[in-house]
Amino acid sequence: MLEKDIQEILFSEEQLASRVNEIARQVTQDYQGKEIVLISVLRGSFVFMADLCRRIDLPCTVDFMAVSSYGSGTSSTGQVQITKDLSSDIAGKHIIVVEDILDSGNTLSYLLKLLAQRKPASIRLCTLLDKPERRTKPVEVHYSGFTIPDAFVVGYGLDYAEHYRNLPYIGILKPEVYGG
Ligand code: IMP
Ligand code: MG
Repeated sequence: MLEKDIQEILFSEEQLASRVNEIARQVTQDYQGKEIVLISVLRGSFVFMADLCRRIDLPCTVDFMAVSSYGSGTSSTGQVQITKDLSSDIAGKHIIVVEDILDSGNTLSYLLKLLAQRKPASIRLCTLLDKPERRTKPVEVHYSGFTIPDAFVVGYGLDYAEHYRNLPYIGILKPEVYGG
């Protein structure tokens, strides 16, 4: 039913699972002997976060933050608003910010600066997808699942106007769906 709006499947469930596994293995290696805090940026990263955290073999807590920068369109407005803040203090903690997609870099450059002011012991960014062609603000990425071309994608947590998050794969949305 949702599939009729998808032009092309970019990453299947199997491809996603295998890449998420690899990232989790890398994180587990990199933070040996440490405890980490995974911070999911809502809502897009909730599926990735749920899969990733279950593959990480380290003492770990999770927290959530929500920001809005998009409204229901397909390109950034440039304005970032914190709509839900973290529940715990991150001072002295090793934090990993978990994002669905790095696009213009607007949201994350703002968010990472804000979190750095709270004096965590370390801060890294883990994004499932990266669209480097679209970057207007530089952002340092430590873990990246896939680099993708400049197309609007949905599924596995990513939405268009809050829909399609429940697709189990990631696909390119047909431009006619958003009038593109
Ligand atoms: P940025 O601030 O432009 O980097 O935008 C980041 C946010 O835009 C992501 O967290 C997504 O919510 C949204 N976004 C950017 N590109 C896409 C896409 O292709 N599909 C769905 N959401 C996207
Ligand atoms: Mg998002």
